[in-house]
Amino acid sequence: MTETQPAPLPAAPRRLGVLLQGVGAVGSTFIAGTLAARRGLGEPVGSLTQLAHIRLGKRTEHRNPMIKELVPLTELDGLVFGGWDIFGGNVFDACETAQVLDGRLTAQLRDELEAIEVMPGAFDPSYVKRLNGTHVKPGGRRAWADALRADIRRFKAANDLAECVVINCSSTEVYSVAGPAHQSVAAFEAALDADDPSVGPSMLYAYAAIMEGCPYANGTPSLGADVPALLALADAKGTPLAGKDFKTGQTLLKTVLAPMFKARMLGVRGWFSTNILGNRDGEVLDEPGAFRSKEMTKLGVIDTILQPDVYPSLYKDLYHKVRINYYPPRGDSKEGWDNIDIFGWLGYPMQIKVDFLCRDSILAAPILLDLALLLNLAQRAGRKGVQEWLSFYWKSPVTAPDVYAEHDLFIQLTKLKNNLRHMAGEELITHLGTEYYEE
Ligand SMILES: NC(=O)c1ccc[n+]([C@@H]2O[C@H](COP(=O)([O-])OP(=O)(O)OC[C@H]3O[C@@H](n4cnc5c(N)ncnc54)[C@H](O)[C@@H]3O)[C@@H](O)[C@H]2O)c1
Repeated sequence: MTETQPAPLPAAPRRLGVLLQGVGAVGSTFIAGTLAARRGLGEPVGSLTQLAHIRLGKRTEHRNPMIKELVPLTELDGLVFGGWDIFGGNVFDACETAQVLDGRLTAQLRDELEAIEVMPGAFDPSYVKRLNGTHVKPGGRRAWADALRADIRRFKAANDLAECVVINCSSTEVYSVAGPAHQSVAAFEAALDADDPSVGPSMLYAYAAIMEGCPYANGTPSLGADVPALLALADAKGTPLAGKDFKTGQTLLKTVLAPMFKARMLGVRGWFSTNILGNRDGEVLDEPGAFRSKEMTKLGVIDTILQPDVYPSLYKDLYHKVRINYYPPRGDSKEGWDNIDIFGWLGYPMQIKVDFLCRDSILAAPILLDLALLLNLAQRAGRKGVQEWLSFYWKSPVTAPDVYAEHDLFIQLTKLKNNLRHMAGEELITHLGTEYYEE
């Protein structure tokens, strides 16, 4: 099969803007961590764009450059940060509130962090019931959307930026599904004018980003751009999108363990997952409506991987339960505990227990860095709409209509790397012939 040769990739912008919806634990850890890495105060561990290599050609060619050597990406020094939050202050304040990073590290970055003031957020308290925002824009949905667009333009002009990416890392909104106002661009525009409450804040930021030609990523379970109107708008405007809900801890493990069970044709009777966490995210997720949003993105994973319809004797009656418990003493250090009841030869039962003592924002920060750089790359490569090749980063990958999401982490990685190879005009690695699995 001959691959169509893509056009050569335009050079990366020397400076790239990254605007965050929500500068809380994840947002501030990403910004401070990137500043620390570029000053040599820490390693950007967990970031593919900064650390990973990619094999090219035949194994005998011994070509294994870094991803950032294969495709043009903006250097860390060129990233310019900004964001919105419903609580005021600067990014140093946000780091102090979040208490994720050591104060000795943030003290060294203090000047740079204090120079980034967060802009007032577009906020409707019925979407995030546990928070009372004090740093908010005067409302009406149309006014909010216009103000967010103006913020993006001002940020670009003030920092002399031609290109910018927007990432949603704000609080999870209450569970909602796409309704009549979200079915077409015209209906969505009318809903903005009518201040229709079914348009949540996350959609307003997504809309503003798309209208301003900024690629948009949704790191939360909220709907964001995941409604027909905004998917169509992104297509029309030629803007890349990706989402949703960063895959960081428990779900990351699920998307490695579940494919292993299926690969070995081992049965699974039950999977009980519980979490304790004490950060603001945990407080927001303690509210049933917000938990429902998170539960939906967490639950989808196992069924798609295990295919109970194809393997009913192994997975049909699988009982899957997910719990999130707000437990303040833990702060950002989450404990994700899984009990998995599996069975083997002749149905004999076994159990697996996984106790992941993780740090939520430490796991999420490198994902934001990769997404900012890779979505900008996608834009330069002329890609628009949902970027399924970035499903690697998501608990609940948004897909084209009528296509199921790919959840297996290693298939997702293969897809990501093959897309990079394709963009760079390199041969795809299909693992046929004498190739073996070596990503
Ligand atoms: N940390 C992880 O591993 C992880 C993984 C997947 C998803 N997430 C999601 O990322 C999001 C952020 O997590 P976090 O730990 O940083 O939470 P956080 O509570 O520390 O930060 C969220 C911030 O968003 C702000 N906010 C709320 N509504 C806003 C609005 N309308 N406009 C602007 N800002 C708004 C809040 O004031 C807060 O500062 C959550 O939705 C969480 O579920 C986190």
